[in-house]
Amino acid sequence: MFTILTGAQFGDEGKGKIIDLLAQNYDLVVRFQGGDNAGHTVVVGGKKYKLHLVPSGALYEKRLLVGPGVVLNPRVLWGEIQSLESEGIKLDLGIDAKTSIIMPYHIELDALREKARTEKIGTTNRGIGFAYVDKFAREEVQMEDLTDRTLLEKKLEEIAPAKEKAIADMGGDPTVVRYAPFIDEYLEIGKRLKDRVTDVSREINIALSEEQSVLAEGAQGAFLDVIHGTQKFVTSSFTTAGSACANLGVGPVMVDNVVGVIKAYITRVGEGPMPTELKDEIGESMRERGAEFGTTTGRPRRCGWFDAVLGLKSIYLNGYTELALTKLDVLSGLEEIKICVGYDLDGEKIGYPPESTVQLAKCKPIYESMPSWTEDITTAEIYEDLPQKARDYVERLEDLLGVDISAVSVGPGREQTIFRDEEEEL
Ligand code: GDP
Ligand code: IMO
Ligand code: MG
Repeated sequence: MFTILTGAQFGDEGKGKIIDLLAQNYDLVVRFQGGDNAGHTVVVGGKKYKLHLVPSGALYEKRLLVGPGVVLNPRVLWGEIQSLESEGIKLDLGIDAKTSIIMPYHIELDALREKARTEKIGTTNRGIGFAYVDKFAREEVQMEDLTDRTLLEKKLEEIAPAKEKAIADMGGDPTVVRYAPFIDEYLEIGKRLKDRVTDVSREINIALSEEQSVLAEGAQGAFLDVIHGTQKFVTSSFTTAGSACANLGVGPVMVDNVVGVIKAYITRVGEGPMPTELKDEIGESMRERGAEFGTTTGRPRRCGWFDAVLGLKSIYLNGYTELALTKLDVLSGLEEIKICVGYDLDGEKIGYPPESTVQLAKCKPIYESMPSWTEDITTAEIYEDLPQKARDYVERLEDLLGVDISAVSVGPGREQTIFRDEEEEL
């Protein structure tokens, strides 16, 4: 069985929690894009794990893979491995030989570029965009290069002059490119990771042919996709479900399920349009109650009502077979709950987002209102435990999106999840 799971909004939908939960039923859990800009939270037994690169199946000690479409900061990965292993978690982790390496100069370039922008993107400053630029420019350092000084030095010899010039032109310090302690540190990490270097496509295809199950873990979300998102306010990778096959080297006919993780409201961290953003006390209350602060950067997330117009596009982009709705508990006790069911664009009512980001920024949400519930739902175990009004909300979203919501999350804990059909857990 091959399942792809992606974020259906602007990231931080609760993918880490859902992946962790699903991982118990899979043999392999695989990251296919992005890098340590991702922050996936897993809460087990009250303990919180923030994962940036290690796939969120770590707590079930599954075979974990980092695919060649990921951009990998080896320091962050090494730190994460050490921190998990110090907790007694055994990691069976493989990294593709072709995985692109985020070098210190990528981070420098990210910071310099963002500083120079008059209209900021609000990147996570992890060097993501510049690492992907190098992949497409065919000037990347790959995982394999870190395992052999000669390979790395040969690559750097060719790459370094252009990088140094770019950094100097932007007013930065070009010595970062060939700074020997950094190179030595990267090679040292490469040596420690050498035994974990693998061929991810081969592993997955063999696993699938042997009837094992594979769960592909998306990072970010649909509207941060570099093609289909809200350019320029996006990340630099392909975040939708189709990208999993291309990035992992698995044929599209192998896919069995596509799970979308979607929050019961919407959040965004960084700049860019978000039509239902609430800049008032309701938005503030969502941020407080939902603890909406970035897992990677700690920045406050912008909060707003559920946007079913964007939701519909996300379903088109990903072809979801089912949805996991998260953070329903955060809406308990509000006076009313609004759902954006259309946009007003220059006086015209539309039900699908305009393709242009500039036009999207002009859209004014058209809402329908639903009554809220006052009960605390964080201990609900089965769907029938939810108050009728909460179930009405879930079912209204299902109607608007036209995809089954098969799981409802009512708290950060692994156990705080309701499967609508216990027989068929996602
Ligand atoms: P990801 O990037 O999609 O994995 O999401 P993050 O981990 O960045 O952010 C989601 C946050 O919401 C984390 O702090 C989770 O522990 C938390 N969370 C996930 N599901 C729920 C839920 O149903 N209710 C509440 N209150 N918190 C949740
Ligand atoms: P997870 O996987 C939310 C946002 C950044 C910025 C834009 C570009 O935890 O859902 P980048 O550093 O990627 O060049 O930044 O994308 N962003 C995320 N927002 N969740 C994420 O990951 C994100 N990864 C990047 O805030 O707006
Ligand atoms: Mg996150």
